Amino acid sequence: MRSIIVLLFICLCDVNSLNNGLVKTPPMGWLSWERFACNIDCNNYPNECINEQLYKDMADRMAADGYRDVGYRYVSVDDCWSEMARDSVTKRLVADHKRFPSGMKALGDYIHSKGLLFGIYGDIGTKTCGGYPGARGADGTDYDSLDAQTYAEWGVDSLKLDGCYADTKNMTNMYPEMSTALNDTGRPIVYACSWPAYQIGQNPDYERISQYCNYWRNFDDIMDSWASVTSIIDFYAKYQNVLVKYHGMNHIHNHLTIDTFIECKHFRLFCAFLSNQFISNRLMG
Ligand SMILES: *[C@@H]1O[C@H](CO)[C@@H](O)[C@H](O)[C@H]1NC(C)=O
Ligand SMILES: *[C@@H]1O[C@H](CO)[C@@H](O)[C@H](O)[C@H]1NC(C)=O
Repeated sequence: MRSIIVLLFICLCDVNSLNNGLVKTPPMGWLSWERFACNIDCNNYPNECINEQLYKDMADRMAADGYRDVGYRYVSVDDCWSEMARDSVTKRLVADHKRFPSGMKALGDYIHSKGLLFGIYGDIGTKTCGGYPGARGADGTDYDSLDAQTYAEWGVDSLKLDGCYADTKNMTNMYPEMSTALNDTGRPIVYACSWPAYQIGQNPDYERISQYCNYWRNFDDIMDSWASVTSIIDFYAKYQNVLVKYHGMNHIHNHLTIDTFIECKHFRLFCAFLSNQFISNRLMG
């Protein structure tokens, strides 16, 4: 079977880390980005677009076809799930009404009913990479607490927080604020940060990153090519002396949102790097 899998690299050690007890082993699951990206044209591509049916179908397959039982537990929504603006009164993020007519709480309930975990996507800046509302308003308003509360009420188990439309130098302040906001909700939510990937060449503060994030993306998104995989391996080889200190239980280097066609040699790499694994193809049953 040909699968597409997200490759997420990790290594092992122990430092002061975000200790919410949530990431004792590399997370595994399904994530829409690499394969489905920001396809919102459900009229022309009903089986290829970002809508609630996609995630429900994938939850069905993960439960029925054995993926869940071998550890693939997260069904993760990625970019382009929301309306283009926050609710004008409550200022909360709202799911796109046409593509997610039942809303995010109902989707989370469905995913949980299959014995799976619900992942969602946000952005630390003023917009997501796809142009949807981010955690900062255009006027600078900080929506971290409101968004964290909203995610918790929806039953979210994991947040991938991207870094488009943000001042990269300021991420050192901004990412920890969402970490605190998530903790304040009282709901255990895995926190996946894209923080260091936006600070390549600026000496990301891995000590601080590992204190506030459960796992983090260091480098560019993977694409459907072996050259993309080898570019990531080369990055890890070059920076291994820096990276190796900040990896262990609860704090894991990963290559979030990188997926590619999977072959045996690719799969072996996940194991060699103790990598997280997120599948991103349409599971067919
Ligand atoms: C940097 O982050 C802090 C804390 O979130 C914020 O108050 C400040 O406005 C930010 N500065 C810039 C230039 O984005
Ligand atoms: C919040 O942080 C404290 C201190 O690190 C930790 O013990 C607790 O488990 C965290 N709670 C949640 C819900 O993440």
